Amino acid sequence: MDKIHSLRGMNDLIGQKVDKDNISDRIFFTEKILRNLFENYCLSEIRTPALEEENLFKRSVGDSSDIVNKELYSFLDKNEKRITLRPEGTAGVIRSMIEKKIDGDSHRLWYLGPMWRYERPQKGRFRQFYQAGVEILGHKEGFVELEMISLICSINKRLGIRKPLIKINHLGNKDSKKAFCKDLVDYLKPFSSKLDEKDLERLNKNPLRILDSKSSETQSILKNAPVISDYLSKNSLNLLELIKNTFSKDCDIEIDNTLVRGLDYYTGFVFEATSSELGAQDAYLGGGRYDNLCSQLGGKKLPAIGMAIGIERLASLVNTKEHNPPLISFIILSSKIEQKAYKIAHDLRLSNNKINLDIHLSEGSLKSKLRRASKNNAYYALIIGEEELKSRTITVKPLLNVYGAPKEAKQYSVDLKDLDDFLKMIALEIAYNHE
Ligand code: HAM
Repeated sequence: MDKIHSLRGMNDLIGQKVDKDNISDRIFFTEKILRNLFENYCLSEIRTPALEEENLFKRSVGDSSDIVNKELYSFLDKNEKRITLRPEGTAGVIRSMIEKKIDGDSHRLWYLGPMWRYERPQKGRFRQFYQAGVEILGHKEGFVELEMISLICSINKRLGIRKPLIKINHLGNKDSKKAFCKDLVDYLKPFSSKLDEKDLERLNKNPLRILDSKSSETQSILKNAPVISDYLSKNSLNLLELIKNTFSKDCDIEIDNTLVRGLDYYTGFVFEATSSELGAQDAYLGGGRYDNLCSQLGGKKLPAIGMAIGIERLASLVNTKEHNPPLISFIILSSKIEQKAYKIAHDLRLSNNKINLDIHLSEGSLKSKLRRASKNNAYYALIIGEEELKSRTITVKPLLNVYGAPKEAKQYSVDLKDLDDFLKMIALEIAYNHE
């Protein structure tokens, strides 16, 4: 029989706990910290479906974007309707606001889930990947821009991100954008024969996107091109300076006049966070303001700003260790006492959420169980056999000291009635030494 494989560019995530460099564990840890941070910033969770009508993305992300042009996972369903696996989360969030008729209110939202883009898989680029997104709706340009960058600084700090750089830019208001695009096209037209097919298409459909070109020839032509900052209003320039000044002590932040973003819905302030450690795909998050999207999709005029974080890329940059509750191994020596011993472990789990209790479920010698406890980095092994049960005690074997280093210490007995307090005390002690 033919073997069944996972699809190209789509990965299984399997946690292992024991291997600290396991990317799946890093991803789960990253997601946990992000959820906490979103709570700290008083955001509420939103979940929208993974499948949407294809038109939603055509009318939001836009016809001139690579995402819609080449990367959509679209299918005909059994009703001959064209549906798409979402390539990003913003369009679905706005669709939901309009459908629920809450697009006139302000909202502070976050989401986390898989996205799909039919891209050529390579380092940091997958066909199924995870995004955590934030969308703050109902606020005009100003304070809320600061809120976004503050959140990015906190993400960088809380996760110990290596070599982060935040790039910010402003795409201008309607008039300044129009004037800049006209001058850019006029400047580039004489060089048309030197532009590749993709850049020529951008020249006609969305000239701003040429600034993002990967072609070295185009980039050298652009060196003398008009610069967007010369077209921006005083307000837009001031906003960029204000943001830079507010956060420059906490994180590396620079104004990058060539930053344009690859989705069509952006209207003003835009940003990306990059790290030189990521290689060619160096952005681990991106976003910006999109004040016209809601009305463009048939809703009210709703000012909005948001961002999405590429979880796989962010997780690969994380430099802090997870401090899980300490692991304690629970070893039952004889099948005769299994049920009674299991009940003791069950009671401990009910009363104590400051430890992780690993009950060894398989057969095997004490030696092999202790080996497994050490391999899993357990702090203590609790051993219970017929003798212990008779004397209402448990044998405690220390394996690691409070700092998590291996410990050579004699085993000792603890009365079963004191076991719960004993475990609460060591959990406190270990947590204190990891602060
Ligand atoms: P985006 O820049 O297309 O923006 O994606 C955000 C992040 O998702 C990227 O910076 C990158 O880290 C990650 N990402 C994108 N494609 C892939 C891929 N194929 N494999 C792995 N990671 C990937 C958006 O999606 C907008 N919805 C952001 C936004 C929200 N703007 C306003 N609100």
